[in-house]
Amino acid sequence: MIELESTDSTNRYLIDMAKEGAPCGTTVWAHRQTGGRGRLGRSFSSPTGGIYISFLLPLPNNLLDNLLDVGFSLTAMAGVAVKRTIWQVCGKDSGIKWVNDVMLDGKKVSGILAQVVMDKVVIGIGINYNTPEEDFPPKVRHIATSIYSKGQEAPPMAEFVKKLTENIYTVCSGSDKNWLKEYKDSSTIVGNKVQIIQAGKIVGEGLATSIDDRCFLHVIDDDGNEIVLSTGEVSIRQEGRV
Ligand code: BTN
Repeated sequence: MIELESTDSTNRYLIDMAKEGAPCGTTVWAHRQTGGRGRLGRSFSSPTGGIYISFLLPLPNNLLDNLLDVGFSLTAMAGVAVKRTIWQVCGKDSGIKWVNDVMLDGKKVSGILAQVVMDKVVIGIGINYNTPEEDFPPKVRHIATSIYSKGQEAPPMAEFVKKLTENIYTVCSGSDKNWLKEYKDSSTIVGNKVQIIQAGKIVGEGLATSIDDRCFLHVIDDDGNEIVLSTGEVSIRQEGRV
């Protein structure tokens, strides 16, 4: 495990290492990032107090024939690993907002970004562990939260990182048979009216009815048509749950 006080992005750092021949199992953990990368080309705010960690994993055999599915399924698996770790180390029950935002009390506590590099994949995870609320940028303060807040005693970060590493290897190796059910059961989206967002624009809305075995989200629009989403994002419509 490489532990850094600060870097621009642990994903960038590990991708460079992979290109130089680093083996699977190499892990980079930083206490702060100055250029954290998010999904869909966004940035990821990474102040001190959070855990920013990237794992170099082999591409699973069954996914090798469809590279597009790789990042998608692995990020869902990583979401389950994060959820389990939050429960095991912190005793808090989180949910997963499709595809892979881990949520606590309706706010995002963790984000995951998978990037394929040659025959391997980097799974980058950012967790707001003990992040003071005022350290979140104002534009995300209303949608982000931290597992612990000021004045609360948090277990050592190293304990969380150790457990997370174990969970990542168990779930992402494919040896865990329960992750998919856990992923589906943890959904904060299914059963809600949602807006479908592609490239930053609302392109439709409907009722999220289920997540299938490929982790695709099924939505029934107001005309009764089924839309199957394999990418993009959704947001819960203000009217909320039905
Ligand atoms: C998202 O929510 O859009 C994904 C965020 C992923 C952030 C993590 S932090 C560790 C790793 N390094 C990065 O630059 N990004 C990922």
